[in-house]
Amino acid sequence: MTEAPLVSVERVTRRFDSPPAPAAVDDVSLEIRRGEMVAIVGRSGSGKSTLLQLIGALDEPDAGEISIGGVPLAGLSERERTALRRERLGFVFQSSHLVPTLSIAENVALTAIVAGERRRSWGPRADELLRHLELGTRGRDRPVELSGGERQRVALARALFARPEVLLADEPTGALDTATASRVHTLLRSAVGAGTSSVVIVTHDLETACIADRLIVLRDGRVTADRSFTPPGIGDEEVRAHEERVRRWLAEHR
Ligand SMILES: Nc1ncnc2c1ncn2[C@@H]1O[C@H](COP(=O)(O)OP(=O)(O)O)[C@@H](O)[C@H]1O
Ligand SMILES: [Mg+2]
Repeated sequence: MTEAPLVSVERVTRRFDSPPAPAAVDDVSLEIRRGEMVAIVGRSGSGKSTLLQLIGALDEPDAGEISIGGVPLAGLSERERTALRRERLGFVFQSSHLVPTLSIAENVALTAIVAGERRRSWGPRADELLRHLELGTRGRDRPVELSGGERQRVALARALFARPEVLLADEPTGALDTATASRVHTLLRSAVGAGTSSVVIVTHDLETACIADRLIVLRDGRVTADRSFTPPGIGDEEVRAHEERVRRWLAEHR
């Protein structure tokens, strides 16, 4: 028997305005398997964030069905949805709020703190994630002392901390310099783990799209292209050739 896809989106529509205005997400079907890293690309307003929020059980479709690990979201109570979000999903959204009264390290380890765990158990992992994101010296600071880009990286560290089965990230490399973006890429790839989890990122950034195993293009709420790629090895030339291939493919499809 083949395993159910980790994420299943079946003929999903979400509209904010009545017809003839187009739906934000219009009859979208897709499946995401464990171990896949998917990048969703498309112009501004094409429905990327709306789709991500539907998959994250933060919003509900007007038609169609979404399942996580074979569990249909529509059948869940509010309490069960909250538990699913907490236990199985991770979020990095532009609006990812940090708790202003907690330190940066405490924000990263928020799930452990809420569970009453001591620093001894969560500190090393929080510190390690912060170091990987070039925030190693900021663990004791408060969110207000950080820039917007730094806060977003803390949100990424927080999402990775809990090792979610599905990590959903909206423009996680939006405002980063090349070196930091490349560290974020490494962490996102590591979040796929040994094929146990999936990562779904919305991005405008070619380099970020190039670390994905699969690209999905949205236009006016519809999937216009969906293709798997083999991410390149680490050689510079291989990486450049892959970027060129992806650039050409995107130019044809968006
Ligand atoms: N909460 C909302 N209320 C009304 N319209 C919305 C809302 N969220 C998104 N939209 C509309 O849905 C469409 C898709 O938006 P969005 O998913 O944010 O696109 P993207 O992330 O690709 O830029 C846009 O036309 C946007 O204005
Ligand atoms: Mg968006």
